[in-house]
Amino acid sequence: MKISVLGTGVVGRKIAERLVQLQHEVTIGTRDPDATLEKNPEVGQLLAQYPGLTLLSFDEAAAGAALVVHAGNGAAAIELLSEVGSQQLAGKVLIDISNPLDFSAGFPPTLFCDGSESLAERIQDAFPDTHVVKSLNTLTAELMVHPENLPEPTTVFVSGNNADAKVATEALLRELGHRDIFDLGDLSTARGTEQYLYLWLRMFGKLGTGIFNIRVVR
Ligand SMILES: NC(=O)c1ccc[n+]([C@@H]2O[C@H](COP(=O)([O-])OP(=O)(O)OC[C@H]3O[C@@H](n4cnc5c(N)ncnc54)[C@H](OP(=O)(O)O)[C@@H]3O)[C@@H](O)[C@H]2O)c1
Repeated sequence: MKISVLGTGVVGRKIAERLVQLQHEVTIGTRDPDATLEKNPEVGQLLAQYPGLTLLSFDEAAAGAALVVHAGNGAAAIELLSEVGSQQLAGKVLIDISNPLDFSAGFPPTLFCDGSESLAERIQDAFPDTHVVKSLNTLTAELMVHPENLPEPTTVFVSGNNADAKVATEALLRELGHRDIFDLGDLSTARGTEQYLYLWLRMFGKLGTGIFNIRVVR
């Protein structure tokens, strides 16, 4: 499948690498490819390691993609996706991994969306013809693509308004190795997984590593 991963941070790089290993055709999106190669040597290393992987501007990266992964900075989400354009995103499945983190008061960050809305819904409102599915945002990047690094299966959540888009997302999650996929319901349920960050960050602070997850026993 042709998949566009929007974002060159650790999440975008990890997801892109794993999807290439799984034989998908992957493009990585960024604002300015030359500037990114200059400032972010890890991106260049990734491209050198996987010659099929390409780094393009956000709109070029999304062109022709069957599925788009949003792995951009939460505060810039609408700006980033506007660079792709609503026409380009229309009808597509957009897996949104971003979190609405606000680091303006230091660490731990707060969230700029309160429990009455989610960033995923803001994205859906801004791009009504796109099928936004929130997932993977409750895991550190490494566990998004290698959940088997934990000694037992743990839970990953899915929220979205379109049933087919969630089926496509769940198929991709299974390819990544996720076995306990919890469909919470419509996109408003992403409020819960985003607000979970308040707990995630405290557990991260206590454990000193992001290599942990929860399992919903039911
Ligand atoms: N790090 C984790 O383990 C983790 C776990 C769960 C969820 N998340 C979420 O995943 C997302 C990605 O996290 P990350 O740490 O990989 O990267 P990040 O540093 O949060 O975001 C980097 C990406 O955001 C883009 N960006 C920043 N400002 C922009 C702007 N004004 N306009 C357009 N694009 C802009 C950058 O574009 P350029 O490529 O042009 O620089 C880059 O591609 C975040 O929302 C984060 O909260 C992260």
